[in-house]
Amino acid sequence: MPPEAVDYILYAPTGPVTDFTPFTRAKAVLSLWAGVERIVTNPTLTLPLARMVDDGLAEGMVEWVTGHVLRHHLGMDQDICRQDARWQVHIPPLARDRRVSVLGLGALGAACARALAGLNFDVAGWSRTPRTLPGVACFHGAEGLRAVLERAEILVLLLPATAATDNTLSARTLAWLPEGAVVINPGRGQLIDDAALLEALDAGRVGHATLDVFRVEPLPADHRYWHHPRVTVTPHIASETRPASAAQVIAENIRRGESGAPLLHLVDRAAGY
Ligand SMILES: NC(=O)c1ccc[n+]([C@@H]2O[C@H](COP(=O)([O-])OP(=O)(O)OC[C@H]3O[C@@H](n4cnc5c(N)ncnc54)[C@H](OP(=O)(O)O)[C@@H]3O)[C@@H](O)[C@H]2O)c1
Repeated sequence: MPPEAVDYILYAPTGPVTDFTPFTRAKAVLSLWAGVERIVTNPTLTLPLARMVDDGLAEGMVEWVTGHVLRHHLGMDQDICRQDARWQVHIPPLARDRRVSVLGLGALGAACARALAGLNFDVAGWSRTPRTLPGVACFHGAEGLRAVLERAEILVLLLPATAATDNTLSARTLAWLPEGAVVINPGRGQLIDDAALLEALDAGRVGHATLDVFRVEPLPADHRYWHHPRVTVTPHIASETRPASAAQVIAENIRRGESGAPLLHLVDRAAGY
């Protein structure tokens, strides 16, 4: 179909479209991804931009985050990686005595915080604007970051990549984490100053980092993260847009567009997410 005949553009950063100017009659760009950092600053894009908020995506993220939080909370590696005929007893604390912080309380972060609170973890969350979530101690803004990091035995990053969130974890803020804290990043690679994290891992100040997203993807084969004993790398698989549920979100937004109703999940271009 020629670009000038297209009404709605379904967009993925891995697709071919980088110049939106030929799409002269298009009414909106509907992103198939939740993260829109690769399109939000595109100067050729003047159309409304909606991002993906999908039940399937949220469910997948809850499962991935909960699984990795439980791995570290229960110390599963000690059993799974050490089958050496030594009867060593280690009793993990109850979840109620484990402090978990979630940076980002949007569609995905809030779902994860809720699920972790549902398992009885002592959960705190952080957002840009004030949020209220039952069972979650909520902090916001630059002034709230230190408090949420200082209590984070396990830290989950679910912020979008924007100018304001770049290097949220830096040498300065990593120093606010409790000794031996675990960092779990299914958000975006840009959230972390990699050199600072590696230094903290080398020193054992950060006990482990489970990283799903990176500044360069695929993560280059010679990157230190691949070989670091305190790092687990997963290849950007924390959660996928699920066609069955995502198609309904897209269809609903097209229906809205055609009936003149406001689109769902519009991106705030100034905020960048
Ligand atoms: N690894 C994967 O497979 C995968 C899959 C999907 C998505 N993701 C990542 O997950 C991210 C989050 O997705 P989402 O749907 O939950 O996004 P969202 O609904 O837009 O939520 C973003 C959250 O981050 C907060 N935030 C943004 N800028 C901030 C700042 N400067 N300081 C403090 N908080 C800030 C927002 O605060 P407010 O509540 O105040 O707006 C909001 O709570 C995506 O952007 C993407 O990068 C990864």
